Amino acid sequence: MIQKTPKVLLLEGIHTCAAERLRSVGYYVEAEGHSLSGQELVDRVQGFDALGIRSKTHMTEEVLQKLPQLRAIGAFCIGTNQIDLEYSNKDATCVFNAPYANTRSVAELVIGELVMLARKLGDRSSAAHRGVWMKSAAGSNEIRGKVLGIVGYGHIGSQLSILAEAMGLTVLYYDIIKKLPLGNARPVDTFEELLQQADFVSFHVPETPETKGMMGAGELGLMRKGTYLINASRGTVVDIPALSAHLKNGHLAGAAIDVFPKEPASNKERFESELQELENVILTPHIGGSTEEAQAAIGLEVAESFINFFEKGSTIGAVNFPNLDAPPVEEVPRILNVHLNTPGVLGKINSIVSAAGGNIRRQFLSTDAHIGYLIMDMGRSDVDRVASEISQLETSLRTHIILP
Ligand code: NAI
Repeated sequence: MIQKTPKVLLLEGIHTCAAERLRSVGYYVEAEGHSLSGQELVDRVQGFDALGIRSKTHMTEEVLQKLPQLRAIGAFCIGTNQIDLEYSNKDATCVFNAPYANTRSVAELVIGELVMLARKLGDRSSAAHRGVWMKSAAGSNEIRGKVLGIVGYGHIGSQLSILAEAMGLTVLYYDIIKKLPLGNARPVDTFEELLQQADFVSFHVPETPETKGMMGAGELGLMRKGTYLINASRGTVVDIPALSAHLKNGHLAGAAIDVFPKEPASNKERFESELQELENVILTPHIGGSTEEAQAAIGLEVAESFINFFEKGSTIGAVNFPNLDAPPVEEVPRILNVHLNTPGVLGKINSIVSAAGGNIRRQFLSTDAHIGYLIMDMGRSDVDRVASEISQLETSLRTHIILP
């Protein structure tokens, strides 16, 4: 029950900085360049306390059931669809990801696209490659002094806002939540207002029922003639046939699209879109967040989550677990207990502690619909006995001791 040096297995070629960081605190780490599945995955993960994966390793209920020792899974990426979050919650396996490590990469891509669209760089470059000289100032503009309308002023939208102001743009934004404007950016009251005022509209919203198709024919019609649209958020946000029509009839002067309603599953699959061949349209294969820097940042962020989890019991940033932070383990042992969230559990745990003549230094508890998570620092007591009795409660799912 006393936690030993954590053993971590990293699959799918996770950036080497993750293994380096984990080894720097003494963890045992093995790394593989590929993904695994089914029984092969189960066999390889046996004996490890934590597993790092990217998008290709599927942690299904069937796989998780056979890995009772596994305490944490790190999705070294943004999405967590490859993991059965509901089962891993009930099973008390804590799942971490790194949702914001590629924020800056997306914001930088959009900055590049603003200039590319305003100068028709995509078309001119490919023409030059084909031997066609397209020198002309007509329809080419500086972005300085133009209005950028940002839809969704979250992590990416607000970073973009700062970068865009530094390039001389005026920034307006629309968000459903009241957000503090950065620099000189200005919120607008309605989405429609933003569409009517902006020279460039850039989407940075999540995929929700409200954002699905939020940019349809009616909304595109509200944009001023000769303006530009950028979407590097989610493929369902913009109605592609409607966008295509507004580009073909010249209402919009260009668009940069990084995400699509239907994207190829791998680089081997062919990509089809009705935006192909249209003038001044930049199409990119969902690479907004795909940079070496973002991969390194993801590696470090998830490695740090593992370290906080094993050293302190912290679950901050976990996607399927009650989020709880705690100070470092000092002087006295710490008991971590994950239990079924039913009434009276804490009372039973406290009775065990008092019967053992123990002294609780501090306790932190957080719950969700299925489980409760307790972090408890114990002074003056037989911590092994207390933890063992707690682990035998029928509500207990996992119990560990971290020694100072
Ligand atoms: P975030 O959660 O920090 O910000 C999203 C913002 O959108 C929030 O401020 C939220 O209040 C706002 N919002 C939600 N619904 C809205 C609505 N109906 N109208 C207006 N605002 C609304 O998310 P973050 O990290 O900035 O990411 C934004 C998008 O970028 C996400 O969809 C994410 O999947 C996507 N993304 C794309 C990448 C790529 O490779 N192209 C890489 C990383 C993220």
